[in-house]
Amino acid sequence: MRNILVAGNWKMNKTPGETVEFLEELTNYCKQNNHPEVEVMIAPTYLAISEARKAIADAPVLLSAQNVSMNINGAFTGEISASMLKSIPVDMCIIGHSERRSYHNETDSKIYRKLHVLLANGITPIVCVGETLTQRKADETMEVVIEQLDESLNDLNLVTGKEIVIAYEPIWAIGTGVTASPEQAEEVHSLIRRRLAKRFNPKIAENIIILYGGSMKPANMEELLACPNIDGGLIGGASLETEIFTKMIGIAIETKKRN
Ligand code: 13P
Repeated sequence: MRNILVAGNWKMNKTPGETVEFLEELTNYCKQNNHPEVEVMIAPTYLAISEARKAIADAPVLLSAQNVSMNINGAFTGEISASMLKSIPVDMCIIGHSERRSYHNETDSKIYRKLHVLLANGITPIVCVGETLTQRKADETMEVVIEQLDESLNDLNLVTGKEIVIAYEPIWAIGTGVTASPEQAEEVHSLIRRRLAKRFNPKIAENIIILYGGSMKPANMEELLACPNIDGGLIGGASLETEIFTKMIGIAIETKKRN
């Protein structure tokens, strides 16, 4: 069975000092409350990532970056390479987030290159896909998600399926307070898993964690996690306060204990 991943994407929030303060509380919580099948991850800004690594130390918390350069090194002002992330080290890296797709022209072909530099450096990519409200209203959700998935994974080879994570984040649900219903989310998650089964094989697809992202919070997490193909959350706003985020980790632990 797949683990649940509770992942906080902090976006452009928290200074290094605020990061350390948050992580002191989070690591205390995670040392006292953990389950072998529930993983916790946070993605601070690049600026706070070294401090975050130290603050996490030996706690059961994974560290992620929010982006990476598709290039290996050289004259790319303002960019951070996968080997730099590896030197920290970070465990995971979000790529193809809709905010990067829309504000920084991150295309599927760039995501594909980012995927490869991350895998070459032993960092797990979290590949984000998701439709806009206009696309959903036009009944284009399935084809948009399939196209993003196919083109960003392209000719990728996987051995187990544990090398990557997929995040389905409907853009209309991000930061809006509107969450996809469990039925809406599960419909897309099961489509993604079927596509992965076709693209790789059913065994590999069964191992790939597929996260839901978009206004996930304590009040809706349990019903989303109850869906067979939803393996956790990529959480924005609700990951910024320790009290709320730890509550969500607790919900994931309870879900695993019940199953
Ligand atoms: P919110 O949880 O704030 O909607 O953000 C979701 C997200 O974009 C996580 O990557």
